[in-house]
Amino acid sequence: MPIKRIEVGGAALSVLDAGAGETLLFVHGFPLDHTMWQAQIEAFAPRYRVLAPDLRGFGLSDARGETVTMEEFAGDLAELLDALDERRPVVFCGLSMGGYIALRFVDQFAARLRALVLCDTRAAADSAAAAAHRRKLGEQVLAEGAEPVADAMLPKLFAPRTAAEKPEVLAAARRVMAATHPVAIAAAQRGMAERPDSTALLPTISTPTLVVVGAEDAISPLDEMRGMAAAIPGAEFVVIPNAGHMAPLENPAAFNAALEKFLARS
Ligand code: MLT
Repeated sequence: MPIKRIEVGGAALSVLDAGAGETLLFVHGFPLDHTMWQAQIEAFAPRYRVLAPDLRGFGLSDARGETVTMEEFAGDLAELLDALDERRPVVFCGLSMGGYIALRFVDQFAARLRALVLCDTRAAADSAAAAAHRRKLGEQVLAEGAEPVADAMLPKLFAPRTAAEKPEVLAAARRVMAATHPVAIAAAQRGMAERPDSTALLPTISTPTLVVVGAEDAISPLDEMRGMAAAIPGAEFVVIPNAGHMAPLENPAAFNAALEKFLARS
């Protein structure tokens, strides 16, 4: 699959750019990279232009900055679209941290959106305790490397069935997390800790929206995501069975079918 390196704001970002047609922008979660979208890339690139970047500091992209806010990640993506000469409104599909970034993208660049897909994410800000915990974990990663964050996150990301039946999926995610640069992990943790509450934005979203959650998501609870969908005018809500927080990876058939249906309707 064709990977490009694009200079954005002083850092080289790596982006998979495959296929032709309407553009689907897939934005990964933390602390992962674009490879989490492999099943979507394979399914949609034959009919769409699929862009799957590695966010600043993740995957093969350069790190820059002690803190990277969700606004900065959103700004990087807008610049990336410009650099790729993609001026048409895109379908922005973001998972978890990718969803936090999607909501900031809505706030700053609504005109660049043709549709929005929010996967296993939240609109609320962190509680003070959660933000403090993130900052502490960021410091620990800078001192000890990425392993502690991989150890802490892996059990929360996947449904028990995925862990039992698809150990290779967990092993691949662990490899990506453990290989992520500690500076990037700490910078994104700080950025997530200080992200604003996007709840008030939800009723103002006028772009067609799909909200998707794995039935057993332990990080972005199902009821909270149902509430998020209810707050966005006309949003569709889909629960993916046999999946936790990483729904597109854990049950790609159900996820891709939901996305396909949404794209055909919206
Ligand atoms: C993610 O999957 O991106 C993370 O769970 C986001 C977070 O730590 O809040």
